Amino acid sequence: MNNSKLDISKRLKKYLSPQVFDLLVKCGIFIEENSANLFLVGGSLRDILLNKSPKDIDLTLVNGNSELVEKLAAYIGGQIIFKSQFFTYKIKVKNSVIDITEARKEIYSSPGSLPEITSKCSIDDDLYRRDFTVNSMALSLIPSKFGSVTDPFNGINDINKKQIRIIHDNSFSDDPTRILRAIRYSIRLNFKIDYKTLSKLNEFKNNINLITGFRVKNELIKIIREDSRSKILLSLHNLKIFDIIGLKININNQINKILDKFQFKKEYTDDLILIGILTYNLDIENIINITEKLYLDSTYIKTLRDTQEIKLFLQNIKLDNLNNSSIYKSLNPYKDEAIIINSYFSNTKVSNKLNLYLNKLKYSIPPLNGSEILSLGAKEGPRIKEIINELLYDKLDGKIKNKNQAIIKVKQILNS
Ligand code: CTP
Repeated sequence: MNNSKLDISKRLKKYLSPQVFDLLVKCGIFIEENSANLFLVGGSLRDILLNKSPKDIDLTLVNGNSELVEKLAAYIGGQIIFKSQFFTYKIKVKNSVIDITEARKEIYSSPGSLPEITSKCSIDDDLYRRDFTVNSMALSLIPSKFGSVTDPFNGINDINKKQIRIIHDNSFSDDPTRILRAIRYSIRLNFKIDYKTLSKLNEFKNNINLITGFRVKNELIKIIREDSRSKILLSLHNLKIFDIIGLKININNQINKILDKFQFKKEYTDDLILIGILTYNLDIENIINITEKLYLDSTYIKTLRDTQEIKLFLQNIKLDNLNNSSIYKSLNPYKDEAIIINSYFSNTKVSNKLNLYLNKLKYSIPPLNGSEILSLGAKEGPRIKEIINELLYDKLDGKIKNKNQAIIKVKQILNS
């Protein structure tokens, strides 16, 4: 790889949108005028060096502080939309978001704990706290050094060799989530894990049970959002990582096929579905154990419970024998995601019925509303809701085709 400034600038132009490129140039100018330094770092730079468009823009500020970040946001016409006590900021400018972190050193007091952030520091110190060489490079954005790459651990060489390598022997013991990250990157990028890194990974893999459920959950979500999620999960399964964490996740052929078929579209909703697929074949005790271990929120808990209830229901009832209103009544209490999960595990006939509910039945509206029913002489009270439902069910079953038929039905009800 040619590491000249010229080549890098060309790549930046090629793999960033013109708006983002201009924004980074502008940020660099402002930061240099204020005697500080600014770098493109982490996955953003790695992806550009791999000839890919990065999905996020991660910047590191050296010699700056929160006041400077605020001034920078104002200078580029953006707004700080997030700020943490760990010196990290998110700035939104029109449609773009950039993440800025002040350069820092981290000290891990015990394996798996969150680091203490010790001091502001140089870019080299900041790169040293990172996980793998390919993520530990920085590209200068200030005008006097624009495009020059700081690569203290030979990340470019590892990109060329297509390998994931830790930058120091304590990397996995400092932060065992990196074990999950190493597998994820190696499969996503089709890189091998370097020999020594792999031996350290095996040496420290039991430390993975020291990390909090919350952090495991975050890494698991990142994994299931990857295109190669099934390969990553299988690899973790083969390394017995789930056993070490105490999660009874069983990756078999059926689950793998479904995971491969899955097209990720929406964050969160798709996360629910994918976690539901992963836990579909487990018994309820193990599912509860997973929700507790990973601190999954109430939406996850409801989705996973609903999934199991629908699964049981489908084992006992032949859905293709039911009329539309019965399908509606049976599925209406449940979350859509739970129905989608079940459709992945069902035969074509059943999954067609589940999709009929999701795409059509669920959106049906009653032919008359409450005030229309009142105007026909009904008295206010809970009966109105019942009549509305009866009308809806008749509409779903094709017994009521228009408003007139609905009015006749209401009159019959009221006269009976
Ligand atoms: N990082 C780290 N150790 C971790 C998590 C993150 O050293 N446990 C560092 C890495 O340098 C990484 C950067 O923080 O590049 C940003 O982390 P993240 O946003 O998780 O990853 P990206 O680099 O953006 O990579 P991607 O989103 O493509 O997975």
